[in-house]
Amino acid sequence: MLEGRKLELFESPVYAGECQNYDICEEICALAAEHEEQTKNLRLISDGWEAQARTDDKELRGKKGVTSHGTNDQLHLLEGWERPTNLIISMAKELLKHVDREHWYSSRAEIESMWYSMYPEGGYIPEHIHSNVAFSGVFYAKAENDAGSLVFHDPAWHLKSSVWVNDAPTQAITKRQLPVYTGVMLLFPGWLPHSTMPNNSGEDRVIVGFNLGF
Ligand SMILES: [Fe+2]
Repeated sequence: MLEGRKLELFESPVYAGECQNYDICEEICALAAEHEEQTKNLRLISDGWEAQARTDDKELRGKKGVTSHGTNDQLHLLEGWERPTNLIISMAKELLKHVDREHWYSSRAEIESMWYSMYPEGGYIPEHIHSNVAFSGVFYAKAENDAGSLVFHDPAWHLKSSVWVNDAPTQAITKRQLPVYTGVMLLFPGWLPHSTMPNNSGEDRVIVGFNLGF
């Protein structure tokens, strides 16, 4: 018999693209900072995320990071956010052209919800999915070197890990880390579990997250 081979039958689709409009990236950072300044009861991230903690405490916000998710996830409808919204939907539509040949998804996509998150040094988001959403995305408005990768977790990790033998890791690589940088967008199915590594860049990491409707 010839040597056997491994067939990779299933994939988890993730789409990636960049914009070089760093003015809008800076604009998003300024808008997020302004919103954070004016908004009470913002939800914390890092280890505050799973505790569903909310606070007005500036020091705590600065230590763990904040998100407008849960307070305002309709940024696309806010005055002042028009340019970022246009950039994000147009980038998302470009990426969605890879989904199907007829561009069904690309032509119908609309932003259903949109929020920002600001990660200080050490800030991260624990693993989660976006329930009831076909496609979600993240746009990095600011991510310097070592800002912390985006980690995707194979949703079938427990099945694939069940054939683990000793310490042979080639059988079950169930996590993938993607490097992030200013201007990159990643689009993925809402069912795909994801998290981030801590931000170790020495500067804030600022993202806009969004869910699409069709
Ligand atoms: Fe997410």
